[in-house]
Amino acid sequence: MDKLAIIGGRPLYGEIPISGAKNSALKVMAASLLSDAPLKLLNVPRLADVDMLLRLLEQHGAVSEFEGSTLTLHAKDIISTEAPYDLVRKMRASFNVLGPLLAREGKAKVSLPGGCAIGARPVDLHLKALTAMGAKIELDEGYVFAEAPDGLKGADIAFPFVSVGATEHAMLAAVRAKGTTTIENAAREPEIADLANCLNAMGANVSGAGSSTITIEGVAALNGAEHAVLPDRIETGAYIMAVAATGGELTLKGARADLLGAAWAVLEEVGIDLEELDDGLRVKRAGERCTATDIVTQPFPGFPTDLQAQFMALMTTADGVSTIKETIFENRFMHAPELGRMGAKISVDGQTATVRGVARLKGAPVMATDLRASMSLVIAGLAAEGQTMVNRVYHLDRGFERLEEKLQACGALIERIKE
Ligand code: UD1
Repeated sequence: MDKLAIIGGRPLYGEIPISGAKNSALKVMAASLLSDAPLKLLNVPRLADVDMLLRLLEQHGAVSEFEGSTLTLHAKDIISTEAPYDLVRKMRASFNVLGPLLAREGKAKVSLPGGCAIGARPVDLHLKALTAMGAKIELDEGYVFAEAPDGLKGADIAFPFVSVGATEHAMLAAVRAKGTTTIENAAREPEIADLANCLNAMGANVSGAGSSTITIEGVAALNGAEHAVLPDRIETGAYIMAVAATGGELTLKGARADLLGAAWAVLEEVGIDLEELDDGLRVKRAGERCTATDIVTQPFPGFPTDLQAQFMALMTTADGVSTIKETIFENRFMHAPELGRMGAKISVDGQTATVRGVARLKGAPVMATDLRASMSLVIAGLAAEGQTMVNRVYHLDRGFERLEEKLQACGALIERIKE
């Protein structure tokens, strides 16, 4: 497994292009299975997770062409409705092929998913939504067997709590169901509206995406389309925290302020200057150190759980005490002991972490445990005195495009050591 060696303590200056959002790209890629015509996707990040889903889609019969960040997917014929364990276990988003396969072919056999080890992460809400649309579902030997021989039917779906994946999955199935589907308590993440825009470009009839109620009038078939994936708000937030931790000034090209939701106000509150440009954001730390503040992770527009680890890294050197409450995933503080190895003062009690800011972190060997946690260790390493060795960087390759290259271009001393 590759490692990253970081010599910290250098400010970051320069421009970082923000890639297309991983979490959006993976869902619009799954949408390609809904149509027998080509779907051209612009601004797709080249990431391990994207490659993995590409392999799965090809296995179902999609033909792909990747040129730069433009990905064309053409699923003229579905040659297999089975998504095997080996291709689904490493990434939860692969599970979202179930809905499109069921909607188009009337059956599917999909392995139960894997993904980051940040909690139990069941798929009960996904399956409830598909069952409400008339699918017959059985679980056996780690697989979901689903059938809807007469096609899916529109349904009223009310989720008991907000789930991004289940909302998207219900949309991906309902666009080709007979009749109207309503989704109540839908997730409002920007990636949901992005998926709706892509589906509508393909001829679907989705309204209300971005609000808590989504209405979908099913159509018999979907067309080809072109769609540009929205910029990655989590990558944006991560680089904002990096420059806030190291000092310096970054221009984040293509970043959008409106995608940051409540995080924008939090970042300003801790002492980060954020300026909106025509095509991006300019970011710098206002003073010598950030000031501590408290956060609670929430579904969008609340503070995103996917930025919690990076925010914790920033708070380790902030002035004061910060409490960080994680409400979305039950096991998402694995970065806390690793940050502790670098001198951070963090105590965890259940779903709440208390961070007492120290003047300076010291470099240390650390272990990346999941995708966003890995980025928090990189941020801490960039800010720390001396060398940090981040082990197991494959997590980072799943979600941050050209990480070392982007940081090196801004003056960071960061190097990949191939194993
Ligand atoms: C997506 C994102 C992930 C982000 C998360 C929350 C992708 C590929 N991943 O994950 O980066 O951290 O949203 O913003 O887009 N749950 C159930 N049953 C279900 C579904 C979910 O209990 O059927 C629970 C989960 O365990 C979790 C909570 O609901 O505790 C929210 O999960 P969800 O919003 O579904 O997250 P993902 O779609 O998996």
